[in-house]
Amino acid sequence: MTTRITIKRPDDWHLHIRDHDMMRACLPYTARVFGRAICMPNLIPPVRTMADGVAYRERILAALPKGSKFKPLITCYLTDDTDPDDVERGHREGVFTAVKMYPANATTNSAAGVTDYAKIERVLARMEKIGMRFLIHCEEVRPDVDVFDREARFIEDRLIPMTRKFPGLRIVHEHLSSKFGVDYVRSAAPQVGASITPYHLELNRTDWLGHGNRPYMYVAPVIKREADRLALRDAATSGEACFFLGTDSAPHPIARKLAQVGIPGIFNAPCAMETYAKVFEEEGKLDKLEAFASLNGPKHYGLHPNADTITLEKRSWTVPVAMKVEGLDELAMIYKGGETIAWQVVEC
Ligand code: DOR
Ligand code: ZN
Repeated sequence: MTTRITIKRPDDWHLHIRDHDMMRACLPYTARVFGRAICMPNLIPPVRTMADGVAYRERILAALPKGSKFKPLITCYLTDDTDPDDVERGHREGVFTAVKMYPANATTNSAAGVTDYAKIERVLARMEKIGMRFLIHCEEVRPDVDVFDREARFIEDRLIPMTRKFPGLRIVHEHLSSKFGVDYVRSAAPQVGASITPYHLELNRTDWLGHGNRPYMYVAPVIKREADRLALRDAATSGEACFFLGTDSAPHPIARKLAQVGIPGIFNAPCAMETYAKVFEEEGKLDKLEAFASLNGPKHYGLHPNADTITLEKRSWTVPVAMKVEGLDELAMIYKGGETIAWQVVEC
């Protein structure tokens, strides 16, 4: 039985590291384990221009624990009016790693997202030309589309046409959540890759809603059926290059999670890597953990893997229940808080 595993240092290809007090609270959890992270731009206000990107990167670097080598990778929030020249300059100058698209009103802070797909084609054409990655929140949020079908409908109505119109554009289907999506990404690789969260690998909608309503399991895209969870576990642990780690760790103050209209997001950074290790062990695929966590992501982004390593050991520990957010006088609940996990990151 494997009880200790050393892998190249992983990266988080989908992270909400937030801003200001919340960022200062949650950043150390990610910076401890991960070498790099794709930082989502859905701040208030969003990271829309190269100037916004430079300022955001500075704020993250200033908040890092002393001596940390963690590298934030900044993304540009796509709107109907994004300027292709600004995106290209941001990419060439090493500010923007990628562009992120939220369909308007699909999730947290997405009100300024895309409403008119014809208007963004100039930006997509430019990204295709300069080899810049396009990250998509793949959900079709029209009122006639059931919330559990949003991913499939987006793939059919938007993503497939986009891949055909821009065959050289490399895409990330963010937080893949359905069997339909798994089958699609396999068929569209290597043009399309997908990040997979720890919670879509662990939970189904019966966990979320079947034994009382658990607001801390509410995310976008919503947790789906058991068949979807199983397909995602098979994909993540397969070693296939199109599937890679992206935690979607997204802290919110308790009051926002429990409001009359609750907000989507699960804060999992304190136990993300350990949760992935647990899932890979359960599937008998610990030998594929490094590909998923540390190799496939950089490959899809055209980057080198990290040079150093981390070590995980089979050693039980209890996940803290909540994170205190200094300054906000708030708490953010932690995924699996109070539960015991058998794996621990012991060297990083
Ligand atoms: O659950 C989610 N939370 N999904 C997203 O797409 C956004 C995120 C957030 O920012 O809270
Ligand atoms: Zn996200």
